[in-house]
Amino acid sequence: MTTELQNDLLIRAAFSRPTERPPVWMMRQAGRFMKEYWEIKNKYSFLEMCKTPDIAADVTMLPVDLLGVDAAILFSDILVTAEAMGGQLSFEQGVGPRFANPVRSRADAEALRTDVVEKLRYVADAIAVVRQRLSRRIPLIGFAGAPFTVLSYLVEGGSSRDFKRTKLLLHNEPDLAHFILQKIADVTVDYLNMQIAAGVDALQLFDSWALALAWDDYKTFAHHYNAYIFSKLNRTGIPLISFCKGSSVFAPLMAAAGPDVVSVDWNADLPTLKAGLPHGVAVQGNLDPFVLYADKKVIKEKILQLFERMRGQDGFIFNLGHGIMPDIPFENVKYAIEVVKDFNY
Ligand code: CP3
Repeated sequence: MTTELQNDLLIRAAFSRPTERPPVWMMRQAGRFMKEYWEIKNKYSFLEMCKTPDIAADVTMLPVDLLGVDAAILFSDILVTAEAMGGQLSFEQGVGPRFANPVRSRADAEALRTDVVEKLRYVADAIAVVRQRLSRRIPLIGFAGAPFTVLSYLVEGGSSRDFKRTKLLLHNEPDLAHFILQKIADVTVDYLNMQIAAGVDALQLFDSWALALAWDDYKTFAHHYNAYIFSKLNRTGIPLISFCKGSSVFAPLMAAAGPDVVSVDWNADLPTLKAGLPHGVAVQGNLDPFVLYADKKVIKEKILQLFERMRGQDGFIFNLGHGIMPDIPFENVKYAIEVVKDFNY
């Protein structure tokens, strides 16, 4: 919070200040593509890992120690807010997240609690442990799920391909949808302000599945709540990154919600997209994560092509367009990070 970071590339890039090279971190860097992750995961359930500060810190530090990234992201999940609100959450191998009590009626929605920040205290405790271990070497990114994406898990009861129930709720019972979204938004504000107080250096809001929405519905049911959250954060000195799969389309609205950085999926040409955003809004992205399955020669070419297109632009954080897949070879991820770190403008 107070002491200066030894490597503040991410913070400078996020605030569109000059950097020697783009900073690099990768979504889902603290995860399953590392055998060291599995050594821990085989001993505990996923939620146990999230809720035990020392274990969450161990996993957060894996990519810092093994990959040399320019930022750490806290090991946790976007669904912990929904769990604290009353969702009975479990993570099943090969199935993903499940809520045993999906939210489908007014009574279900009324049962969702909003005075839950104390239940999420374990996240602040994990942040404190990670901060100690990082000792200001690189920034720590905290995060939360955006209301629409969290709503979709609560309503569907888990992951979904088409978000049919969620969309039915938005279309047939918009008042009920707004009632739940506002509750999630209020919890998210408290939760992110708690993370700031605990000492994160940056925050990312994940609206992973907003891509499912039509433009007007995105505005009403996603953008509105993300803007509300950004407006309520104690954000001085803390850059805010807004992510959604679908940012190639929604980037102008995402920028209008007030983050410092828009994280871009791999469909868009990054300099073209950035040129359409207000001055001073940085971009993060946007390598297709599937490139990391390819030969090293291709990985290098694709990264350098992107850097060539972004040459001369401040406000650029290198990342993937979405998260690392669990079966991407570790060596390839490590190589991609070396390519970025060897680069000099
Ligand atoms: O980025 C990081 O490494 C930090 C940790 C992190 C996790 N989840 C760990 C995790 C972050 C930032 C998330 C965010 C998250 N969680 C998102 C948004 C990011 C995105 O990918 O769009 C979403 C949609 C979720 C919900 C979620 N959690 C799903 C769908 C799953 C399982 C399915 C899958 O294959 O990803 C999880 C579980 C989860 N979250 C794991 C990890 C490491 C896997 C748990 C395991 O070991 O089985």
